[in-house]
Amino acid sequence: MEKIAIQVLFCYFFVVLLLLSGTAISQEVDDEIEFNYEEGGENGPSKWGELHSKWSACKNGRMQSPIDLLNERVQVVSHLGRLKRSYKPSNATLKNRGHDMMLQWEGGAGTLRINGIEYVLQQCHWHSPSEHTINGQRFALEAHMVHVSQDGKIAVVGIMYKIGRSDSFLESISDHLTQVAGSNERETVVGVIDPRGIKIGSRKYYRYIGSLTIPPCTENVLWTIVRKVRTVTREQVRSLRVAVHDESDTNARPQQPINLRIVKSYRPDDENQNP
Ligand SMILES: *[C@@H]1O[C@H](CO)[C@@H](O)[C@H](O)[C@H]1NC(C)=O
Repeated sequence: MEKIAIQVLFCYFFVVLLLLSGTAISQEVDDEIEFNYEEGGENGPSKWGELHSKWSACKNGRMQSPIDLLNERVQVVSHLGRLKRSYKPSNATLKNRGHDMMLQWEGGAGTLRINGIEYVLQQCHWHSPSEHTINGQRFALEAHMVHVSQDGKIAVVGIMYKIGRSDSFLESISDHLTQVAGSNERETVVGVIDPRGIKIGSRKYYRYIGSLTIPPCTENVLWTIVRKVRTVTREQVRSLRVAVHDESDTNARPQQPINLRIVKSYRPDDENQNP
């Protein structure tokens, strides 16, 4: 009898613990809504580091993102290797995070392998205009595919888009975007989405060490920016903005100091023999 009582008590404490950690998690999510992109505003990019003690890297970090990828400063190398992507179709949810739209795969959607480390694809979100620039040039849209390794290392793949032909992946989720835009729901289940539909179209890329471009601005993020600039229609860029309902027409963080960081550019050796 006594043993059961102890077990019940133990279960009770466990449930309380779970509830407490649950509120802690939702607290963090609420906090994310506090920041915005108003230049010079109270919650704007230059103030992010002061809004929350956990966000201090946004202000004090020495390896922040985004940056300009200036070709003159870039080291061209061939040893980084091709991007080893093994993605798989997985169930996803489209979420309005208050400052952007995020497509999140439950339990991950396959892996990206860099330097022998496997990073699991967790989510993809979009910034307009682009956050990174190439030789000072900004583009209409930038997609960020966020990957996390088992021990918590982050690798992000950035893809740039200029205005032109329609992007087939955004086309494939456009009904869901419209659905979120037309309602006050913060998320919608979209079913199985194949991340291989997010086209890269080039083996060349830039590589540098930076940070998340939104709070908490976590550093040591391994960045891969695909060199090929893809295309998207004006309507597609707009549909991503409208869905957010934040009355802002931009969600690009201003550029951050490079601070002697090295940007590498990968170009395969066999480019001409084996296209
Ligand atoms: C997606 O979710 C549905 C419903 O829960 C499930 O039946 C299906 O097997 C899932 N598909 C994948 C690829 O995980």
